[in-house]
Amino acid sequence: MSDKVEQRIKELSDLLHHYNHEYYQNHNSVVPDITFDKLLSELISLEEQHPQFKHPDSPTQRVGGTITKEFPTVSHKTPMLSLSNTYSWEDLDDFDKRIQKGLETTDYEYICELKYDGVALSLSYENGILNVAATRGDGKQGDDITHNVKTIQSIPLSIPEDIPFFEARGEAFLPRKEFERINQEKEKAGEEKLANPRNTASGTLKMQDSSVVAQRKLDCYIYSLNLGGIATHEDALEQLKKWKFNVPDSYQKCKTIEEVKKYIQDWDTKRHSLPLDTDGVVIKINNISQQEQLGYTSKSPRWAIAYKYASESAATELLEVSYQVGRTGSITPVAQLAPVQLAGTTVQRASLHNANEIDRLDLHVGDTVFVEKGGEIIPKITGVDHSARNEQAQKIDFITHCPECGTALVRKEGEANHYCPNTLGCKPQILGRMEHYIHRKAMNIDSLGPETLEQLFDNGLIKNPADLYRLQFDQLINLERFGETSANNLIQGMKNSTQIAFPKVLFALGIRYVGATVAEKLVEHFKTIEKLSEATLEELVAVHEIGERIAESVIDYFSKAENKELIAHLKEQGVQLAIEESENKQVSNSLTGKTFVISGVFTLYSRTELQNLIKNHGGKVVSSISAKLDFLVAGDKMGPSKLEKATKLGVKMINEQEFAEMIQTI
Ligand code: IVH
Repeated sequence: MSDKVEQRIKELSDLLHHYNHEYYQNHNSVVPDITFDKLLSELISLEEQHPQFKHPDSPTQRVGGTITKEFPTVSHKTPMLSLSNTYSWEDLDDFDKRIQKGLETTDYEYICELKYDGVALSLSYENGILNVAATRGDGKQGDDITHNVKTIQSIPLSIPEDIPFFEARGEAFLPRKEFERINQEKEKAGEEKLANPRNTASGTLKMQDSSVVAQRKLDCYIYSLNLGGIATHEDALEQLKKWKFNVPDSYQKCKTIEEVKKYIQDWDTKRHSLPLDTDGVVIKINNISQQEQLGYTSKSPRWAIAYKYASESAATELLEVSYQVGRTGSITPVAQLAPVQLAGTTVQRASLHNANEIDRLDLHVGDTVFVEKGGEIIPKITGVDHSARNEQAQKIDFITHCPECGTALVRKEGEANHYCPNTLGCKPQILGRMEHYIHRKAMNIDSLGPETLEQLFDNGLIKNPADLYRLQFDQLINLERFGETSANNLIQGMKNSTQIAFPKVLFALGIRYVGATVAEKLVEHFKTIEKLSEATLEELVAVHEIGERIAESVIDYFSKAENKELIAHLKEQGVQLAIEESENKQVSNSLTGKTFVISGVFTLYSRTELQNLIKNHGGKVVSSISAKLDFLVAGDKMGPSKLEKATKLGVKMINEQEFAEMIQTI
């Protein structure tokens, strides 16, 4: 029996490793997701039942789950150096001459690789198994981030050979698409966007919860192997590929420095179609004994150099500056440009940040401006060709009045941004606040969208979130695009949202600097909106992780009559503006005698809120799934083993929506 289990565990591991490799490195989906998940859950449950057969390189390690409070420091076996940079053909010729002189021969070859713009990683394998993964740190010592690195699907957890020790080095990165996806999510949630893929990759690798890292689909290109007995860098790359490391095919052997230049030129445009940002080419001597002969300075190898591409820039005409009004009333100037090709995309707009930036550049209408794409996704204007300026060209003066409602703009002492103070009467601010209110991560009212909000606003039916609760069927049914079902859904959606817990409501109010996490912290501390609204600056900053900027914003919000009124109206409508204390808040006994297991990630409630709700309605929360269990409340990313067990035992599974309905209607 146990032989069979061991064999099945091996079989499943091999299959899953193979599927992973095909999927992540060769972009080849061998089996449907559902089959993959089924096999993975079988493996998880076998490993749970027979931990003695769980292998350190099991594919189950990829899903994360370990929490690391502090990353231990590790010393690198050999220092992680940097590369010296060059920017011109002359520098390259000089490098080539130094090589010739150092080797006293012309008999050498180069390998050219792209310079990946990510986070350097050192991967140490002992007896063929990934043992320690570390950051570069100061070059001598880095942080041990093994748990997080194990979630990177393209890094082998083991190799099929029993080598006592070797180290692979490479660059972890967040694919551009994944970065854009995360930022779109952030934008929708009204959260601050991430600056660039590199910083995001670096921040992700330092997260404490490895299951969150696992969701962020990092990748890693490998560019070196420290192992004796290998003759050339090319052989090292080939060996790494055989062991299924992700070595991109973009490297090339070059016999002369002229061939190197050709490679650099070829890849200047081709590199933009790669899934990650690259900022140059790394040129390395191919032969390892020649590398050793050339040696190192204290900072970098003498046998390699980086050629850095100039950050790409293009000249185009500034057509005009337009202004966007955000939900907080902040005004963002945007340069409208004559379309121009830049780093593989057509650019028509560039961010100008604020009035200072326009002054700094001394922008005039019709100016020829230089746009550049740095690490950031949105291009920026880096300069103006003054010689090309038309004498009559009109200087761009920052607007004095709101482009949407005509109110005179204000700019607070010491602040860079202009604001439209017409909070209650400026359409994009009103709609922006309501869009934020209904967002999936806030009140999660999916029966409403931005277009419907605008329609309702234009028809004079709503001007703040409280109005949404007062909408009547008769008012809606007469509107264009509304039918009986959509009108009823909207009304029901609003009703359901009164069940949303207070932390989400507080986030939904859209108080400046109060994101989802800050809202949770504030609620945890103050419990009710009354207490929060009366809190002094000192009381607010005394809360862990609440700084003065947030505290001032909260005080400012609650000092305004319109906000007090809004909150009073929301309260009238039954919106949750306090957290329920679990002990003495027996709301009903509708769940008495029922047991629940909670598993996965939820959008409507936090886990604690779910637990409290169950208890407050008389139910019991248990941790393990058994045949006696009444309900499994299943969220996103629920562990496959739980899923399988519940299915096997025929336990009823409900999602959070169904749960919400259950506590309302039973
Ligand atoms: S070889 C002695 N190859 O660039 C260092 N490095 O400035 C030898 N990098 O921290 C490194 N792409 O993380 C090498 N194809 C590549 C690279 C690469 C990016 C990074 C690396 C290192 C930095 C050196």
